[in-house]
Amino acid sequence: MSKLRVCCFALSLDGYGAGPDQSRENPLGVGGLALHEWVFPTRMFQAMQGKGGGTTGIDDDFAARGFVGIGAWILGRNMFGPVRGPWPDESWKGWWGDEPPYHVPVFVLTHHARSAVEMQGGTTFHFVTDGMDAALKRATAAAGGKDVRVGGGVATIRQYLRAGLVDEMHLAISPVLLGSGENLLAGIDLLRLGYKCSEHVPAAKATHVVLTRAR
Ligand SMILES: NC(=O)c1ccc[n+]([C@@H]2O[C@H](COP(=O)([O-])OP(=O)(O)OC[C@H]3O[C@@H](n4cnc5c(N)ncnc54)[C@H](OP(=O)(O)O)[C@@H]3O)[C@@H](O)[C@H]2O)c1
Repeated sequence: MSKLRVCCFALSLDGYGAGPDQSRENPLGVGGLALHEWVFPTRMFQAMQGKGGGTTGIDDDFAARGFVGIGAWILGRNMFGPVRGPWPDESWKGWWGDEPPYHVPVFVLTHHARSAVEMQGGTTFHFVTDGMDAALKRATAAAGGKDVRVGGGVATIRQYLRAGLVDEMHLAISPVLLGSGENLLAGIDLLRLGYKCSEHVPAAKATHVVLTRAR
Protein backbone atom coordinates (compact mmCIF):
# COMPACT_ATOMS: atom_id res chain seq x y z
CA MET A 1 0.00 0.00 0.00
CA SER A 2 1.29 3.43 -0.95
CA LYS A 3 2.63 5.46 2.00
CA LEU A 4 2.74 9.19 2.52
CA ARG A 5 6.28 10.07 3.56
CA VAL A 6 8.19 13.13 4.68
CA CYS A 7 11.90 12.62 4.08
CA CYS A 8 15.09 14.56 4.77
CA PHE A 9 13.19 17.43 6.32
CA ALA A 10 15.77 19.64 8.04
CA LEU A 11 14.77 21.18 11.34
CA SER A 12 16.51 23.64 13.66
CA LEU A 13 16.90 22.85 17.35
CA ASP A 14 14.11 25.32 18.06
CA GLY A 15 11.78 23.61 15.62
CA TYR A 16 11.95 25.75 12.48
CA GLY A 17 11.98 24.29 8.98
CA ALA A 18 12.56 27.68 7.32
CA GLY A 19 13.87 31.01 8.53
CA PRO A 20 11.88 34.26 8.37
CA ASP A 21 11.48 36.51 5.31
CA GLN A 22 11.58 34.02 2.42
CA SER A 23 12.59 35.69 -0.82
CA ARG A 24 14.31 35.01 -4.10
CA GLU A 25 17.63 35.81 -2.36
CA ASN A 26 16.77 33.67 0.70
CA PRO A 27 14.55 30.84 -0.55
CA LEU A 28 14.88 29.04 2.79
CA GLY A 29 14.27 32.22 4.78
CA VAL A 30 17.00 34.17 6.53
CA GLY A 31 19.46 31.72 8.09
CA GLY A 32 17.61 28.70 6.68
CA LEU A 33 20.51 27.48 4.58
CA ALA A 34 22.30 26.37 7.76
CA LEU A 35 19.65 23.69 8.32
CA HIS A 36 20.86 21.82 5.26
CA GLU A 37 24.61 21.68 5.97
CA TRP A 38 24.26 17.95 6.65
CA VAL A 39 23.11 17.15 3.12
CA PHE A 40 25.23 19.40 0.88
CA PRO A 41 28.44 17.32 1.05
CA THR A 42 26.72 13.96 0.54
CA ARG A 43 27.22 11.83 -2.54
CA MET A 44 23.47 11.91 -3.10
CA PHE A 45 23.28 15.70 -3.12
CA GLN A 46 26.39 16.03 -5.26
CA ALA A 47 24.89 13.61 -7.79
CA MET A 48 21.73 15.73 -7.87
CA GLN A 49 23.95 18.65 -8.89
CA GLY A 50 25.38 16.51 -11.70
CA LYS A 51 28.68 16.09 -9.84
CA GLY A 52 30.64 13.03 -8.78
CA GLY A 53 32.15 12.35 -5.39
CA GLY A 54 30.64 13.39 -2.09
CA THR A 55 30.56 11.86 1.34
CA THR A 56 29.13 8.48 2.17
CA GLY A 57 27.83 7.29 5.52
CA ILE A 58 24.83 8.12 7.69
CA ASP A 59 23.86 11.44 6.10
CA ASP A 60 24.21 10.11 2.57
CA ASP A 61 22.23 6.97 3.44
CA PHE A 62 19.31 9.06 4.73
CA ALA A 63 19.51 11.43 1.74
CA ALA A 64 19.36 8.47 -0.66
CA ARG A 65 16.53 6.74 1.24
CA GLY A 66 14.35 9.79 0.63
CA PHE A 67 14.21 8.99 -3.08
CA VAL A 68 13.69 5.24 -2.87
CA GLY A 69 10.21 4.05 -3.85
CA ILE A 70 8.81 7.55 -4.44
CA GLY A 71 6.31 7.80 -7.32
CA ALA A 72 5.04 11.36 -6.84
CA TRP A 73 5.61 14.44 -4.70
CA ILE A 74 3.43 17.07 -3.07
CA LEU A 75 4.84 20.57 -2.51
CA GLY A 76 3.43 23.81 -1.16
CA ARG A 77 3.48 26.79 -3.40
CA ASN A 78 6.08 28.63 -1.24
CA MET A 79 8.53 25.76 -1.60
CA PHE A 80 7.98 25.85 -5.35
CA GLY A 81 9.06 29.46 -5.52
CA PRO A 82 9.02 33.05 -4.25
CA VAL A 83 6.04 34.23 -6.33
CA ARG A 84 3.00 35.00 -4.15
CA GLY A 85 -0.58 35.74 -5.13
CA PRO A 86 -1.91 35.21 -8.67
CA TRP A 87 0.77 34.02 -11.11
CA PRO A 88 1.77 37.10 -13.13
CA ASP A 89 2.85 34.85 -16.02
CA GLU A 90 4.10 31.31 -16.67
CA SER A 91 7.80 32.14 -16.38
CA TRP A 92 8.52 30.75 -12.88
CA LYS A 93 9.24 27.02 -13.16
CA GLY A 94 10.77 26.25 -9.77
CA TRP A 95 14.21 26.69 -8.21
CA TRP A 96 15.73 23.64 -9.80
CA GLY A 97 16.52 24.53 -13.44
CA ASP A 98 15.41 22.73 -16.59
CA GLU A 99 15.78 19.25 -15.09
CA PRO A 100 14.49 19.22 -11.49
CA PRO A 101 15.58 16.37 -9.21
CA TYR A 102 12.08 14.86 -8.88
CA HIS A 103 11.76 12.86 -12.16
CA VAL A 104 8.11 12.03 -11.34
CA PRO A 105 4.86 14.03 -11.21
CA VAL A 106 4.87 16.83 -8.61
CA PHE A 107 1.62 18.29 -7.26
CA VAL A 108 1.92 21.89 -6.06
CA LEU A 109 -0.77 23.09 -3.66
CA THR A 110 -1.93 26.63 -4.41
CA HIS A 111 -5.04 28.78 -4.44
CA HIS A 112 -4.03 30.17 -7.85
CA ALA A 113 -4.73 28.06 -10.92
CA ARG A 114 -2.05 27.50 -13.52
CA SER A 115 -1.43 25.05 -16.38
CA ALA A 116 0.84 22.09 -15.75
CA VAL A 117 4.52 22.57 -16.58
CA GLU A 118 6.45 19.68 -18.11
CA MET A 119 10.17 19.78 -17.37
CA GLN A 120 13.06 17.68 -18.66
CA GLY A 121 13.78 14.33 -17.04
CA GLY A 122 10.23 13.24 -16.18
CA THR A 123 9.17 15.98 -13.76
CA THR A 124 5.80 17.61 -14.42
CA PHE A 125 4.51 20.27 -12.05
CA HIS A 126 0.72 20.11 -11.62
CA PHE A 127 -0.98 22.94 -9.75
CA VAL A 128 -3.75 21.76 -7.45
CA THR A 129 -6.34 24.32 -6.33
CA ASP A 130 -8.93 22.03 -4.76
CA GLY A 131 -7.11 21.24 -1.55
CA MET A 132 -4.86 18.77 0.26
CA ASP A 133 -7.12 15.74 -0.15
CA ALA A 134 -7.38 16.26 -3.89
CA ALA A 135 -3.59 16.66 -4.11
CA LEU A 136 -3.06 13.42 -2.20
CA LYS A 137 -5.60 11.57 -4.33
CA ARG A 138 -3.98 12.73 -7.56
CA ALA A 139 -0.45 12.08 -6.28
CA THR A 140 -1.35 8.59 -5.08
CA ALA A 141 -2.91 7.74 -8.45
CA ALA A 142 0.13 9.12 -10.28
CA ALA A 143 2.51 7.18 -8.02
CA GLY A 144 1.07 3.89 -9.30
CA GLY A 145 1.56 1.95 -6.06
CA LYS A 146 4.78 3.69 -5.03
CA ASP A 147 4.95 6.11 -2.10
CA VAL A 148 4.13 9.81 -2.17
CA ARG A 149 6.66 12.21 -0.66
CA VAL A 150 5.54 15.47 0.88
CA GLY A 151 8.54 17.64 0.15
CA GLY A 152 7.41 20.65 2.15
CA GLY A 153 7.36 23.36 3.05
CA VAL A 154 6.31 23.66 6.61
CA ALA A 155 2.66 24.69 6.15
CA THR A 156 2.07 21.83 3.76
CA ILE A 157 3.57 19.16 6.00
CA ARG A 158 1.65 20.53 8.99
CA GLN A 159 -1.65 20.03 7.16
CA TYR A 160 -0.95 16.39 6.37
CA LEU A 161 0.38 15.75 9.88
CA ARG A 162 -2.68 17.30 11.54
CA ALA A 163 -4.94 15.15 9.38
CA GLY A 164 -3.03 12.05 10.48
CA LEU A 165 -2.13 11.24 6.89
CA VAL A 166 1.67 11.12 7.13
CA ASP A 167 2.81 7.52 7.63
CA GLU A 168 6.49 8.23 8.14
CA MET A 169 8.52 11.37 8.78
CA HIS A 170 12.31 11.60 8.71
CA LEU A 171 13.65 14.75 10.34
CA ALA A 172 17.29 15.82 10.18
CA ILE A 173 17.72 17.95 13.29
CA SER A 174 20.57 20.39 12.75
CA PRO A 175 22.57 21.95 15.59
CA VAL A 176 21.47 25.50 14.82
CA LEU A 177 18.95 27.95 16.25
CA LEU A 178 16.83 30.14 13.98
CA GLY A 179 14.78 32.02 16.58
CA SER A 180 11.89 32.62 14.21
CA GLY A 181 10.49 31.44 10.90
CA GLU A 182 8.18 28.55 10.05
CA ASN A 183 7.78 26.18 13.00
CA LEU A 184 7.00 22.61 12.03
CA LEU A 185 5.46 21.12 15.13
CA ALA A 186 4.13 23.98 17.28
CA GLY A 187 0.63 23.09 18.46
CA ILE A 188 0.65 19.63 16.91
CA ASP A 189 0.24 16.75 19.38
CA LEU A 190 2.16 13.99 17.63
CA LEU A 191 1.57 11.56 20.47
CA ARG A 192 -2.20 11.92 20.23
CA LEU A 193 -1.94 11.48 16.48
CA GLY A 194 -0.28 8.11 17.06
CA TYR A 195 3.34 8.80 16.18
CA LYS A 196 6.31 7.20 17.82
CA CYS A 197 10.04 7.49 17.29
CA SER A 198 11.09 4.40 15.36
CA GLU A 199 14.69 5.35 14.62
CA HIS A 200 17.25 7.88 15.85
CA VAL A 201 20.78 8.08 14.53
CA PRO A 202 23.29 10.75 15.50
CA ALA A 203 25.76 12.02 12.91
CA ALA A 204 28.23 14.89 13.01
CA LYS A 205 26.04 17.49 11.28
CA ALA A 206 22.53 16.31 12.18
CA THR A 207 20.61 13.87 14.33
CA HIS A 208 18.31 11.79 12.18
CA VAL A 209 14.95 10.90 13.65
CA VAL A 210 12.22 8.83 12.03
CA LEU A 211 8.66 9.09 13.34
CA THR A 212 6.13 6.51 12.27
CA ARG A 213 2.40 6.38 12.76
CA ALA A 214 0.48 3.19 13.38
CA ARG A 215 -2.14 2.82 10.62
N1 LIG B 1 13.66 22.32 6.13
C1 LIG B 1 13.48 21.63 5.01
O1 LIG B 1 13.99 20.51 4.84
C2 LIG B 1 12.62 22.23 3.94
C3 LIG B 1 12.09 21.42 2.93
C4 LIG B 1 11.27 22.01 2.00
C5 LIG B 1 11.00 23.37 2.04
N2 LIG B 1 11.54 24.13 3.03
C6 LIG B 1 11.29 25.56 3.11
O2 LIG B 1 9.96 25.81 3.58
C7 LIG B 1 9.57 27.09 3.13
C8 LIG B 1 8.17 27.02 2.55
O3 LIG B 1 7.27 26.59 3.55
P1 LIG B 1 5.97 27.43 3.92
O4 LIG B 1 5.43 26.86 5.17
O5 LIG B 1 6.28 28.87 3.87
O6 LIG B 1 5.01 27.17 2.68
P2 LIG B 1 4.57 25.92 1.77
O7 LIG B 1 4.01 24.84 2.61
O8 LIG B 1 5.67 25.57 0.83
O9 LIG B 1 3.45 26.62 0.91
C9 LIG B 1 2.34 27.22 1.52
C10 LIG B 1 1.46 27.79 0.43
O10 LIG B 1 0.98 26.72 -0.41
C11 LIG B 1 -0.37 26.94 -0.76
N3 LIG B 1 -1.19 25.95 -0.08
C12 LIG B 1 -0.84 25.16 0.97
N4 LIG B 1 -1.86 24.36 1.31
C13 LIG B 1 -2.88 24.63 0.46
C14 LIG B 1 -4.18 24.12 0.31
N5 LIG B 1 -4.66 23.15 1.10
N6 LIG B 1 -4.96 24.61 -0.68
C15 LIG B 1 -4.48 25.57 -1.53
N7 LIG B 1 -3.22 26.11 -1.42
C16 LIG B 1 -2.44 25.64 -0.43
C17 LIG B 1 -0.71 28.35 -0.27
O11 LIG B 1 -0.26 29.24 -1.28
P3 LIG B 1 -1.18 30.28 -2.11
O12 LIG B 1 -2.44 30.49 -1.32
O13 LIG B 1 -0.33 31.51 -2.18
O14 LIG B 1 -1.38 29.68 -3.44
C18 LIG B 1 0.21 28.47 0.94
O15 LIG B 1 0.47 29.81 1.30
C19 LIG B 1 10.59 27.54 2.11
O16 LIG B 1 11.50 28.43 2.73
C20 LIG B 1 11.30 26.25 1.77
O17 LIG B 1 12.58 26.46 1.28
C21 LIG B 1 12.33 23.58 3.98
